[in-house]
Amino acid sequence: MAGASAGVCPALPVTSPSLLLLLILCYLSMVTPAKAWRPWPHLGSNSSSSLGESKKYEGSSEFVQLRYHMGPVLTANITVHPIWYGQWTPAQKRIIRAFLRSISPVGDTTVRWPSVEGWWRTVAMYTDQTGDNVSRTVRLGAEKNDRHYSHGRSLTRLSIQHVIRSAVTAKTRPLPVNPRGGLYLLLTSAEVAVEFFCGQVCGFHYFTFPSIVGYTLPYAWVGNAERQCPGVCSWPFAVPEGYGGPRAGAPPNGEVGVDAMVSVIAHEVAELASNPLVNAWYAGADPCFPTEIADLCEGIYGTGGGGSYTGQLTVDERDGAAYNLNGVGGRRFLVQWVWHPELNYCYGP
Ligand SMILES: *[C@@H]1O[C@H](CO)[C@@H](O)[C@H](O)[C@H]1NC(C)=O
Ligand SMILES: *[C@@H]1O[C@H](CO)[C@@H](O)[C@H](O)[C@H]1NC(C)=O
Ligand SMILES: *[C@@H]1O[C@H](CO)[C@@H](O)[C@H](O)[C@H]1NC(C)=O
Repeated sequence: MAGASAGVCPALPVTSPSLLLLLILCYLSMVTPAKAWRPWPHLGSNSSSSLGESKKYEGSSEFVQLRYHMGPVLTANITVHPIWYGQWTPAQKRIIRAFLRSISPVGDTTVRWPSVEGWWRTVAMYTDQTGDNVSRTVRLGAEKNDRHYSHGRSLTRLSIQHVIRSAVTAKTRPLPVNPRGGLYLLLTSAEVAVEFFCGQVCGFHYFTFPSIVGYTLPYAWVGNAERQCPGVCSWPFAVPEGYGGPRAGAPPNGEVGVDAMVSVIAHEVAELASNPLVNAWYAGADPCFPTEIADLCEGIYGTGGGGSYTGQLTVDERDGAAYNLNGVGGRRFLVQWVWHPELNYCYGP
């Protein structure tokens, strides 16, 4: 999601149940624009039964018109710089670092398929106007701790840019400024409030304004929703109050909030790579409300996903963990799929 993004609903004849489902979801998201973030909390607690028949939905190629708008994609090696805002435990940081380290080909033959690296291959199919692909290399770069809430415990969209400014201009160990392949990932801990968090979004990406930060840098924010709205932003490891259906399973790394953040981080990094300045790959006619490659597949984690159904997941018999990707160090992650530019549907390894 870039900015306050929302879908643009197609005016097409409804020819199949899955089209109907998508139209319903789409119009619901128009009425409450940014609540399109998770597929079902706003549909009420009976959504699982009413949408349960349509398990074949994985997006439709028939009217999603993802277009290239001639802007850059991230073709240079990508370096992600996490900014840990607030209180983070070492265990929580290790989960997110391991995910970021799992994206690039590491030559580690012990990582089993389906892997995070295999998931990124779909993102790397997006190209710029010269035909260069999004980089297969995503590295974990220098990190910054902002333990003492430099801009308070309640952030706005604008103050987020000031947090990034503080990180790249710090007197001690500032983050390097890398406008070519650098991504700045602001991660807020469970007690930090962020404008539009929970009510409308679980994360977003954009680029910094030179007037505030001094540079145009692609950045994303993702928050830990464990205490504020787990049923919305920590789905599917938590469900909304009153929801009668089953949970997906246990979080694979033991952290409801952070394990769910991994998928939101994946969503934002995929969109930053394919649409860093919000003028490259997106669907919809209105550039103020672009629908990007991960927006199109939100809530879809496996075959058959859609509506309130995650799609087929692997559930580990030993600990009940639900996941769909393997990463370095034997880690397991649950990550939403992304839109495949040639197949024209949501795709995962
Ligand atoms: C869900 O369905 C039950 C039984 O059909 C009904 O009694 C209840 O009011 C419904 N709840 C919502 C939120 O629609
Ligand atoms: C980009 O990453 C690849 C693979 O890790 C590496 O071989 C290459 O030297 C890197 N290029 C630059 C310019 O850093
Ligand atoms: C680059 O993108 C093209 C077009 O999507 C795709 O066919 C090709 O496999 C991609 N190459 C790599 C190395 O990902």
